[in-house]
Amino acid sequence: MTVSTIVHVGALELKNPVLSASGTYGHGLEMSNFVSPALLGGLVSKTVTRKPRPGNAPPRMAETPSGMLNSIGLENRGIEYYKKEVLPTLRGAGTRIITNIGGESVEDFAYCAELLDSESVVEALEVNLSCPNIQGAKLPFSTDANLAAAAIAAVRKATKKPVWAKLSPNVTSIGDIAKAVEAAGADAITAINTLLGMAIDWQKRLPLLSTTFGGLSGPAIKPVALRMVVECSRSVRIPIVAAGGARSADDVLEFLVAGASAVQIGTWNFVDPAAIGVIVNELPRLLRDSKIADIADLIGSLRAPTPVKFEGVEASLER
Ligand SMILES: Cc1cc2nc3c(=O)[nH]c(=O)nc-3n(C[C@H](O)[C@H](O)[C@H](O)COP(=O)(O)O)c2cc1C
Repeated sequence: MTVSTIVHVGALELKNPVLSASGTYGHGLEMSNFVSPALLGGLVSKTVTRKPRPGNAPPRMAETPSGMLNSIGLENRGIEYYKKEVLPTLRGAGTRIITNIGGESVEDFAYCAELLDSESVVEALEVNLSCPNIQGAKLPFSTDANLAAAAIAAVRKATKKPVWAKLSPNVTSIGDIAKAVEAAGADAITAINTLLGMAIDWQKRLPLLSTTFGGLSGPAIKPVALRMVVECSRSVRIPIVAAGGARSADDVLEFLVAGASAVQIGTWNFVDPAAIGVIVNELPRLLRDSKIADIADLIGSLRAPTPVKFEGVEASLER
């Protein structure tokens, strides 16, 4: 039985739904010794910002049960470097290149989007809305529907490329933020970024991270990510790209059933840098075993009663 693993995120066709998640797979082809990039549906870069950023002081990673905390702080060499040194190496990678951009102001986001607009190798922009807005109360763009919409509207104006709005789970109602960025012109939603958490060394009475709080990721957050993908997919018409704890081909298919059109693999790359290739290769077998000829048929196929309305974190499919 021949099976198709092709999916579409809006107008962008992917040979399969498996993407790398921003910040866990380098900027360019750093991981190609482990897995041929041509195997993947796409590569998502680490967040690139207008100016170079040194990131936060160490320690900025801590292992947790079934997950990890990080507070890298968007370390990167800036968009000029990325354009000049990284993008040329990505030509001929044989996969879709999605560049993740960040900013401390609406203007920063627009600046990065405009600079990348003429780069044919970049097939879509993923906008990391979890960056703090330094012009306001330093709250991340992702936590306020108006701020999130302002950043997306500015990016939309600055580029003709598909715009994916990457949302944070650290909100009361992710569906409301999803609706706001859809109205502002986003072509897709990426859900989710990391969940705020912390770890403590009780003997030293100190947090394990220099920043006290950090972002929790990995298998521990998959149930939250699944719930949020369902909430997003029932709140908007644009496609959803899932992220959060996926580590197997079964996980990828779960996210598709929840309503995602593609799935990013993040923290699991640190556990096994070759796993993302194994996941891609296992998809056809899982589809054949279940007599599914077209993977796209699974997208949003969750059999559950549509809730009357979402009430933020209280949302339940049983009501
Ligand atoms: C070490 C690390 C660095 C990350 N850096 C970024 C980043 O630069 N930009 C971004 O949008 N997300 C970043 N993320 C979030 C991931 O892309 C992803 O949304 C999140 O970790 C959930 O997926 P996972 O559980 O599969 O890792 C980072 C995650 C980790 C663990």
